[in-house]
Amino acid sequence: MPNRRAALAGAVSLALTLSACGGQNSEASSERGTIGIAMPTRASERWLTDGKSVVADLKDKGYKTKLVYGDDDPKAQVAQIEKLIQQGVDALIIAAIDNKSLNGPLQKAAAADIPVISYDRLILGTRNVDYYVSFDNEQVGRLQARHIIEKLGLEKGKGPFTIELFAGSPDDNNTKFFYDGAMHLLQPYLDSKQLVVPSGETKLDQITTLRWDGPTAEKRMKRILAESYGSEEVDAVLSPYDGISIGVLNAVKADGYGTAAKPLPVITGQDAELASVKSIIAGEQSQTVFKDLRQLAEVAANMADDILNGETPELNNRRAYKNGVKAVPAYLLQPISVDKANYEYVLAVSDLYSPEDLK
Ligand code: GAL
Repeated sequence: MPNRRAALAGAVSLALTLSACGGQNSEASSERGTIGIAMPTRASERWLTDGKSVVADLKDKGYKTKLVYGDDDPKAQVAQIEKLIQQGVDALIIAAIDNKSLNGPLQKAAAADIPVISYDRLILGTRNVDYYVSFDNEQVGRLQARHIIEKLGLEKGKGPFTIELFAGSPDDNNTKFFYDGAMHLLQPYLDSKQLVVPSGETKLDQITTLRWDGPTAEKRMKRILAESYGSEEVDAVLSPYDGISIGVLNAVKADGYGTAAKPLPVITGQDAELASVKSIIAGEQSQTVFKDLRQLAEVAANMADDILNGETPELNNRRAYKNGVKAVPAYLLQPISVDKANYEYVLAVSDLYSPEDLK
């Protein structure tokens, strides 16, 4: 175990011993250390929840925290992480903007003996990442595909239907997991021509959406409708994330969809963001994937705490998460599909939104 971590664990137990003996009544938080948390953007609701929850969990454990947001700018995030390292944080929890841009700062982190937890998005191309905490991201894609298959009745042999495919940001490793999970289930129907893609854009590099940006997806959907749909209508859209789903919805609505004669396509999503849950209740977006971010935050906080106490964090991955340089030990949580039929139950159990929020 690295010296700095051992020293820190020692300092903590000394502080506990002192206070147990009625000695100096020092604030536990100043002894336990400071954790740097680098989140990608404030533009999406989910990352605000992630940041808030990780900070709260670490504070409960007696840590100080430094939370920064990179405004979806990879260079800004690199500078922020370097600053956290200079400030002497004891561990880093990072949700990368560009999964391949962190080699430099993480080399500095390793040199300073600062452990690194890759949060939600796997950091690629570096040996200097200790653990990964996320959801089963291929399962996210499978849940989205399953929703489309059920809504269109593909298993009953119905079709042919038209579908367009959207993927996430090309610099986010999750994008490939979501796409692979979805395509694993959709490909047989594309092969049998029960599903057709009029735009012809099916390969991952043709369908990505830089920085998961809704307006970028809206523009692409508008172009596809103008170029590839004449009298034909689009029946389904595979969308990997709620911000993209709302962009797609704007595009189809602007094209006259949303009437009895021209119904909205089946549109999937992810993150159960408020706008999308409201859209599902209104019968527009058809599905989202709920991931309990408070659980994710808790696992990350526990991991940081275990590492700094010289213990091995709890892991549950059944396969190695290879980042191009090493297999990163991981803890993965389970996502849940949400649609109009189950949103009340899922949201009640998860305590995500109040009935007031949903009005
Ligand atoms: C992914 C994440 C998704 C979604 C997306 C856009 O990395 O796993 O849940 O939040 O980023 O922010």
